[in-house]
Amino acid sequence: MAASLMKRVVSCSLPLSRHYSSGLRKVTLIPGDGIGPEISAAVKDIFEAAKVPIEWEVVDVTPVRGPDGKFGIPQDAIDSVQRNKVGLKGPLATPIGKGHRSLNLALRKEFNLYANVRPCRSLEGYKTLYDDVDVVTIRENTEGEYSGIEHEIVDGVVQSIKLITEDASRRVAEFAFKFAKEQKRSKVTAVHKANIMRMSDGLFLRCCREAAEKFPEVKFEERYLDTVCLNMVQDPSKYDVLVMPNLYGDILSDMCAGLVGGLGLTPSGNIGLNGALFESVHGTAPDIAGKDLANPTALLLSGVMMLRHMELNEHADDIEKACLDVIKESKYRTGDLGGNSKCSEFTDAICQKLS
Ligand code: IPM
Ligand code: MG
Repeated sequence: MAASLMKRVVSCSLPLSRHYSSGLRKVTLIPGDGIGPEISAAVKDIFEAAKVPIEWEVVDVTPVRGPDGKFGIPQDAIDSVQRNKVGLKGPLATPIGKGHRSLNLALRKEFNLYANVRPCRSLEGYKTLYDDVDVVTIRENTEGEYSGIEHEIVDGVVQSIKLITEDASRRVAEFAFKFAKEQKRSKVTAVHKANIMRMSDGLFLRCCREAAEKFPEVKFEERYLDTVCLNMVQDPSKYDVLVMPNLYGDILSDMCAGLVGGLGLTPSGNIGLNGALFESVHGTAPDIAGKDLANPTALLLSGVMMLRHMELNEHADDIEKACLDVIKESKYRTGDLGGNSKCSEFTDAICQKLS
């Protein structure tokens, strides 16, 4: 079962720009901060061992000051993603409560990557509380509490706006059903708190109900967020595909990752109409950065999702199998999985299986 992790998960039908100049398709690579460069190097080595026919276009996204005085994504990086339409991204440092806006979010906004797909499946041979976790959270990725609309009304009183629109809710809801149908999943659960946020979550929920009507072959249910959290940790087999507003998806996807072994393992894909950016969901881990200790699995499996998105399914299958086999055999595991292998040793073990 584990060997087919995400096999069914991402192959969204998007228009792809193909650059065949050297017979290779170009893909933007944003190595990121902290452990980003070393896990990106690991992914590059593994892709090379698997002879993946892509050419990386590596771009730096150190924030630059724009004409409006605000820091943002460098133009070169924007141009690269716009050209290639597909990219892989490591973690970017986000200042807490001050400084520039998270570039992680800026990228999602810039390219209108409206659906954030996060598959979470138990790994064979890596024991956690449950061995039957197999869920996909689909998170609205452009608005909600992440709209960044905040202001101080008077001293000591701050207001933050949760923006929910019909357009964004409808497109992510429809994405979730289309996804479930294409991946032969049986059920979509809309996760909400419409009992409290009656207008905003109410609108989101209405859009989910309407999408459900267009996909009668996919089962639909609606559940409160707190109930989903409770059930997810008691019996994750209750869920299949879940769709929800931005912040709920941020939190719930971490919880699901925790059920299968943590953020070092789980991939994600940000999907838009005109491009897709695949990224590891974990942070920059500054405490272990540069020490060859990080687990590259999350970024690697995000790369596997990317390959399926590009219809390079065989390469995706090979890499996924090699990675999951190394984890299953347990000889080479990084510290987050209780092992004492270096990132490079784990990477070499995967490359060995591929060559
Ligand atoms: C995620 C991360 C980001 C988020 C951070 C790094 C801005 O936690 O992708 O889930 O909050 O969305
Ligand atoms: Mg998060």
